[in-house]
Amino acid sequence: MRLDKLLSHLGIASRSETKALVRGGRVLIAGERAKSPDAEVLPGAALALDGREIDARLERHLIMNKPAGVLTAAEDRRQKTVMDLLPPACAALGCMPVGRLDKDTTGLLLFTTDGVLAHRLIAPRSHVDKVYIARVDGALTAADVSAFAAGIVLRDFTALPAELEILSPDTGRLTVREGKYHQVKRMFAARGKPVTALERIAFGPLALDGSLAPGEYRELNAEEIAALYAAAGIEHE
Ligand code: URA
Repeated sequence: MRLDKLLSHLGIASRSETKALVRGGRVLIAGERAKSPDAEVLPGAALALDGREIDARLERHLIMNKPAGVLTAAEDRRQKTVMDLLPPACAALGCMPVGRLDKDTTGLLLFTTDGVLAHRLIAPRSHVDKVYIARVDGALTAADVSAFAAGIVLRDFTALPAELEILSPDTGRLTVREGKYHQVKRMFAARGKPVTALERIAFGPLALDGSLAPGEYRELNAEEIAALYAAAGIEHE
């Protein structure tokens, strides 16, 4: 990709700014001073600006520990969104949340620049497991476990069978294989036990990273990326 296009995609410099950076000798490609803004940057070539290495990967996959009080949306005029917690380069590259968590839901949220991967992971037919810890108003019972396993009947659809494990009288670990709007809250509400706190602790092969404080994120490693593509049924080099 051309240097000026790449720097603009990465949110580092506009095309005209790149021209000035190159003129000032401030950009290195593979250790050599870039001669022109339209110089070709080969995939994997080391890129540096003012002596500092630039992360020039265009494909990004991130995991975040979503805090409460933040919207899962690409943008919002009034409220803070999860995108506001990421570095601007991620949005410039087209990083988007994979599915959504409610404003008051916390925990594992993925981001990717790969729209096909995101789509496959959240498609109703892909049946990727999502695991939640739900605290409810009420006491969970064996009858709730059976009802979730049979498929909770909601006004507009019957949920796929889900596994509920009772961790304490008011707290359960729920594994669901679909992700319709407010689904977990609606399922518990249908049992007369409204959710008072919800945290997602796993999505497909990935578990919430205990080292991430609420609002923190990190890049997925190569193994995690491979596992995610495998869960989505997509071949990935
Ligand atoms: N189900 C819900 O009801 N809310 C969430 O945030 C996620 C799943």
